[in-house]
Amino acid sequence: MGGFDAVYRASIEDPERFWAEAARGIDWDQPPTVVSQGNRWFPDGRLNTCHNALDRHVAAGRGDQAALIYDSPVTGTERTYTYAELLEQVRRAAGMLRGLGVEAGDTVVVYMPMVPEAVIAMLACARIGAVHSVVFGGFAANELAVRIDHAKPKVVLSASCGIEPTRVVPYKPLLDAALAQATHQPGHCVILQRDQAPADLVQGRDLDWAATLAQADPADCVSVAATDPLYILYTSGTTGLPKGVVRDNGGHAVALHWSMSNVYGAAPGEVYWAASDVGWVVGHSYIVYGPLLAGCTTVLYEGKPVGTPDPGAFWRVVAIHGVRTLFTAPTAIRAIKKEDPSGAFTGKWDLSGLRYLFLAGERLDPDTYHWACDLLGIPVIDHWWQTETGWPIAANCVGIEPLPIKPGSPTKPVPGYDVRILDPDGNLCPAGVEGAVTLRLPLPPGTLPTLYRDDERFAEAYLSRFPGHYLTGDGGYLDADGYLYVMGRIDDVINVAGHRLSTGAMEEVIASHPDVAECAVIGVADELKGQLPVGFVVLKAGADRDPAEIERELTALIRDRIGPVAAFRRAVVVGKLPKTRSGKILRGTMRDIAAGRPYTTPSTIEDPAALDEITRSL
Ligand code: COA
Ligand code: AMP
Repeated sequence: MGGFDAVYRASIEDPERFWAEAARGIDWDQPPTVVSQGNRWFPDGRLNTCHNALDRHVAAGRGDQAALIYDSPVTGTERTYTYAELLEQVRRAAGMLRGLGVEAGDTVVVYMPMVPEAVIAMLACARIGAVHSVVFGGFAANELAVRIDHAKPKVVLSASCGIEPTRVVPYKPLLDAALAQATHQPGHCVILQRDQAPADLVQGRDLDWAATLAQADPADCVSVAATDPLYILYTSGTTGLPKGVVRDNGGHAVALHWSMSNVYGAAPGEVYWAASDVGWVVGHSYIVYGPLLAGCTTVLYEGKPVGTPDPGAFWRVVAIHGVRTLFTAPTAIRAIKKEDPSGAFTGKWDLSGLRYLFLAGERLDPDTYHWACDLLGIPVIDHWWQTETGWPIAANCVGIEPLPIKPGSPTKPVPGYDVRILDPDGNLCPAGVEGAVTLRLPLPPGTLPTLYRDDERFAEAYLSRFPGHYLTGDGGYLDADGYLYVMGRIDDVINVAGHRLSTGAMEEVIASHPDVAECAVIGVADELKGQLPVGFVVLKAGADRDPAEIERELTALIRDRIGPVAAFRRAVVVGKLPKTRSGKILRGTMRDIAAGRPYTTPSTIEDPAALDEITRSL
């Protein structure tokens, strides 16, 4: 292998050769003879992702190595599963699903907290060729219902409760409420009973996880086509209906396996910890599939960076489990910094084994970057990607060749990704000039081939704006050295504590309030969470209400309909929203004002005073 630039060039000049070579890292039931066809990778290959994540490591002698370390400060539990033990659990869970009538191609919704059974559930689906769709626990019943209606699962796998530092969150009533609202009904719900809040089971529909598992016959791997879906992961789009990102089996296994050594520099047998949640793409790729495909030990952490019990929580996990690579969101580091600005808690633990800190999920601000660098004395690596791609688009690929770091930049496009910055007319922007960050087609393996049951929305949302290019939704620029700078979303998506949320979905909820005539939600900068949503609302004529009361009602409404994770707490009643004369709300200008960016008042504005009102209220 050559230096980074040579590897990158090879991936862009001859992607077929590049990815055919990477595909050798995976066990195939039928090796692919065709590397790509349109946006499908390895179309005639057959494999099983679970086999690649578990069985093959056991067969190769890693059976006694730790595969998964469950560390849960919120329950005071620590448990290690070897590869052999995890395989046994997954075989049984796969048999349980089989017994409930789940076949290859069927969908299964997983609505679980950060417990080992969530990982087991995902791998069990993969084992029998079923398609999992994991829903994050911080969403409200309504969001779960929308996903159930779209994914139409045969079975829902859930738990009685999740545990947040300050409270137990009963999941089962949320699931019951979601099913009461949903049109589609699964055949069964299998519920993992947790001591903190056991759930009532609905006779005939609900089954107890432990009892059902105990009766299951273990199931072996089913061979699937590389292009068959492994999972669907819903992510925020511009409307209330989330986008069902589809991940295939073959391209995903090849790309993630490749990324573990080349992007993260992780070797089999090492401990790799992504401090995220299985409900997000980071959890799918780098808690579950990536580390296991690579034969690493993964850590499943049920806790927070602070408060469980202190800002030394991450350093404890790193030290006692021998973590070599830590991956988290900048928000988590900002939360630690806020509570332990001098970094005193790092001194309590031996962090000498930690080699890299990778950060993603939102922009890494230079202050946080410098604080973490000074504190840890190891490379702190910003990298940029999204649910749709499933693995990094831009990173410092330390496994190929570590490049000098430029704070504020996630370094260079990763091999496989042809990043192009385009102006509104589709022309390439010169170095240093900001535009839409796009990826020239074809996308590399592992990225989304389509949206679930919605090829049209896929084409419309991602491929239509600039023909031949995939639209990432982010704005940014490349500098003269080819380093990428990602400046933020250019659409209605915001990032709150590393959680991706749709302002459009929040607007739909706010608009349903009986006193609201119209509204706009934008993300404003927040020191801890990166961004927080703020709603601007115009009340209906005659709705003479106390603005503080309206704010309280809208806060409760968003919490109830979208979930606590939206962290919506601010609604400002204004006389008018800034609009063009043709009636379009000037969201872009509002976003610029909120971000403190220079802006020009559009000549098409209906009433400039409306913009002044927004500026004053921020
Ligand atoms: N189930 C139920 N509720 C959940 C939840 C879950 N899985 N996850 C979060 N929530 C709730 C929280 O309890 C909180 O509720 P509250 O409004 O009643 O306090 C709300 O959703 C917001 O949660 P969170 O975003 O976690 O904020 P926080 O203020 O509790 O904690 C941080 C702040 C920075 C510590 C936390 O956001 C964090 O650890 N961020 C890391 C981000 C991350 O891992 N992102 C994944 C992408 S890499
Ligand atoms: P998600 O799909 O939840 O992973 O969110 C993806 C979005 O988060 C991207 O489109 C970016 O807007 C933002 N994002 C993720 N990582 C970074 C990063 N390293 N720098 C800047 N923005 C990021």
